[in-house]
Amino acid sequence: QTIDMELEAIEKGGYDHFMQKEVFEQPESIANCMRGRLVLEKGELVLGGINEYSQSLIHAKKITLLGCGTSWHAGLVAEYLFEDICRIPVEVEYASEFRYRNPIINEGDVFIAISQSGETADTLAAIELAKSKGAIVFGVVNVVGSSIARETHEGAYLHAGPEIGVASTKAFTAQVTVLSMIAIKMGLLRGTISQSQFQLLISELNQIPKKVATALKNNDQIEALAEIYKDAQNFLYLGRGNNFPVALEGALKLKEISYIHAEGYPAAEMKHGPIALIDEDMPVVFIATQDDSYEKIVSNIQEVKSRKGKVIAIVTEGDILASSMADYSIEIPKSHYVVTPLLSVIPLQLLSYHIALKRGCNVDQPRNLAKSVTVE
Ligand code: G6P
Repeated sequence: QTIDMELEAIEKGGYDHFMQKEVFEQPESIANCMRGRLVLEKGELVLGGINEYSQSLIHAKKITLLGCGTSWHAGLVAEYLFEDICRIPVEVEYASEFRYRNPIINEGDVFIAISQSGETADTLAAIELAKSKGAIVFGVVNVVGSSIARETHEGAYLHAGPEIGVASTKAFTAQVTVLSMIAIKMGLLRGTISQSQFQLLISELNQIPKKVATALKNNDQIEALAEIYKDAQNFLYLGRGNNFPVALEGALKLKEISYIHAEGYPAAEMKHGPIALIDEDMPVVFIATQDDSYEKIVSNIQEVKSRKGKVIAIVTEGDILASSMADYSIEIPKSHYVVTPLLSVIPLQLLSYHIALKRGCNVDQPRNLAKSVTVE
């Protein structure tokens, strides 16, 4: 027993919980994920695992991203990237739904299955279905040699290291990093982005580990916020564009480990339902970073404030407008729109971690959940 406990303490590397360790090691896990792949000096992006089938990916007529839980959210972020950077139609499917449909798969359609464990039964079954209809399936997987890694034609590993906490954190940022690298590389090869856009995007990616480290420095501020909101019954998370999936992910993290009901929504959809829930007891987390939808988000914040909702805004450093309207704001470093989800998710991971701890929850092993769901 004592030996087990000591071993566990060593594995946690000085942190109290695996989740905390995994959140804080993201500057390294993201760097590891890009190591040897993104070679900035040479202006190269090398994805060694995508080789024999790279032409199918480059000339894909449609890409379908498959996953469950957090991996599905990573797919939703990637949808914006593939569409924007590669100009390819994209669908993102819950593997559990896809496997029971009668999907239309045409020649030239490719699939990308996303999974931390590489063992999720629904994802595996969805891959088998796609393959049985003749599709090429790529894997974006963390666990080397896992079933999904073996069942897919080719792919790219996350290299994020083992993730022990049930709530996925560093795997999410690694998935988004790998999918971004694939999209950026394909964009260049397809000619849908120029060489200079390519250079800009890889240099933005390259700066992410450092910026994640900066975002993590707000830990104490977020812990104080958790103290204020730990007894809330509900939370709403709102974002637009590629930060909408981050809102979903923030809500999922809170649900999973603190057992507080939370919903993620595209901010503009608030008026079609969630706005009815807003009163002085409703904390609303806005991802209000400075991009093309900033002004729209600011007016959504206004709508919540005028109904006495409490606003926590994730903002770009130096922000004035959204911050002045919000009850509390948390800054993240400025970055290109394409890579912002890798930063905006950080405060949301920390918020859920601290709220869960303050509620006395087991953050590493939340009730009723499993790290890897190998049954249907
Ligand atoms: C479970 C885990 C989640 C994970 C999901 C998909 O629900 O608790 O954290 O996102 O499975 O797992 P995968 O290993 O396929 O990414």
